[in-house]
Amino acid sequence: MIQQQQEACIAAAKAGAEVLLGYFRKLDPASVSEKSKNDLVSEADRKSEAVVKAELARHFPGYRFLGEETGDSGGEGELRWIVDPLDGTLNFVQGLPHWCISVALWDAQGGLAGCIYDPLRQDLFVAARGQGAFWNGQPMAVSRQPGLDGAFLATGFAWQLGSRFQAYNQALCAVFPRAMGIRRAGSAALDLAHTACGIYDGYFEHGLKQWDMAAGVILVQEAGGLITDWQGGAGWMESGSLVAGNPAVQPELVAAIQP
Ligand code: IPD
Ligand code: CA
Repeated sequence: MIQQQQEACIAAAKAGAEVLLGYFRKLDPASVSEKSKNDLVSEADRKSEAVVKAELARHFPGYRFLGEETGDSGGEGELRWIVDPLDGTLNFVQGLPHWCISVALWDAQGGLAGCIYDPLRQDLFVAARGQGAFWNGQPMAVSRQPGLDGAFLATGFAWQLGSRFQAYNQALCAVFPRAMGIRRAGSAALDLAHTACGIYDGYFEHGLKQWDMAAGVILVQEAGGLITDWQGGAGWMESGSLVAGNPAVQPELVAAIQP
């Protein structure tokens, strides 16, 4: 059954990608506005979400939908698409080639299927519950880095953190001297996809939204990785505080970021 939903995720992500590629580095600055401080939205985000939503509805008209730009809509059931039509909007607006489309399907148990598509690199990451994770059609797995010391990490520090930036900063200071390197590339969904495929050994961020995380979490878990919130618990979808990584690095990362 999940096969068809997974194909719908991929078709929708690719439809969004077509729209976005038409705007990349050609975006009219007048189409960009600020939702809140430093949180941008453009015509490209909105058009991408419209085609992703339409494509998903064409395949599965009864499912609910949560998208970054149009919010919650549709259906009564427990099945819900969770979509970020352009993750890495600031990169996109500035012309930095690092952004993606993220499409996930969730039910009452959590993530069922997910797809993250990076059209500039033609990198397609997909996973479905209990069926493993795949990178351009090949099985993918998290890294084998044995622990936090010497790990290659991703993180994010959004302006939306507000006063929580101090807590973030404290965590960063604890992790920094132990890591081989830390990247802040500007797309949470790609940070998770790149953790799932073993490029990064771990990733931590505060203040995420459900659409930033939903597909990437399925990828990491199906690739053999661990996901918790900053306390090591399961509340990350509600709190937006997330720690991901391979089974050796992730628990050490959680321990290191405790106040
Ligand atoms: C943002 C990116 C960024 C993360 C922010 C997100 P957007 O999503 O994923 O890496 O640090 O918290 O809001 O706004 O580009 O869709
Ligand atoms: Ca996002």
